[in-house]
Amino acid sequence: QESSSYVDPRNGITFQGLTDPTYGVTYGAVFPPLVSSGAQSTEFIGEIVAPLAAKWIGLALGGAMLDNLLLVAWPNGNSIVYSTRYATDYVQPVAYPGPVITNLPSTSVNATHWNWVFRCQNCTSWSGGSLDTTSGAAWAWAYGNTTVDTPSNNASTFAEHSDFGFWGEIMSAGHASAADYANYLA
Ligand code: HEM
Repeated sequence: QESSSYVDPRNGITFQGLTDPTYGVTYGAVFPPLVSSGAQSTEFIGEIVAPLAAKWIGLALGGAMLDNLLLVAWPNGNSIVYSTRYATDYVQPVAYPGPVITNLPSTSVNATHWNWVFRCQNCTSWSGGSLDTTSGAAWAWAYGNTTVDTPSNNASTFAEHSDFGFWGEIMSAGHASAADYANYLA
């Protein structure tokens, strides 16, 4: 499976992403414009739109669990709790410092879904890996069907995912104009 472009009607943002056909969870990302010289931006705007049956969702930006930046999120009442994690073995991932995440205003919980829309700064490289946003790469999702142990705490432990999957995230097709990107952050 490969990502494609879609507009989320809840926020008007054009994302490059994918809805997994099994659980109906949508994963999207949009990147600042590419520059022709110098270093590329190290941030993006991401979203996870998940049915309430999804008790936690993970996004592995390097396409695998180990030695990758893992973004994990779950609903807690009407808010979304998120955590950056890292794992060097197939056990509970530990907190990973460095990325700066800010929830954007369209983050919400409604009667059917939780919607996590976030700015992720310092998110394109991590210990042992990086994203080349001029290109495409494998991303992976993890689906948790059990509630995390302490939903209010972003350092909470949680049980292993009940499923995971992979897709090709075409980052090269996921760059907004500078004006659009600035609007998305507003
Ligand atoms: C694979 C355990 C959390 C992403 C695996 C596997 C195990 C495991 C045993 C291998 C399964 C197999 O090959 O059939 C755990 C445990 C966790 C946890 C015990 C927490 C308590 C996470 C999180 C993410 C994640 C938070 C993502 C954010 C993946 C992915 C795979 C995987 C993408 C498949 C690809 C790979 O082997 O790297 N996990 N996991 N896991 N896990 Fe986790």
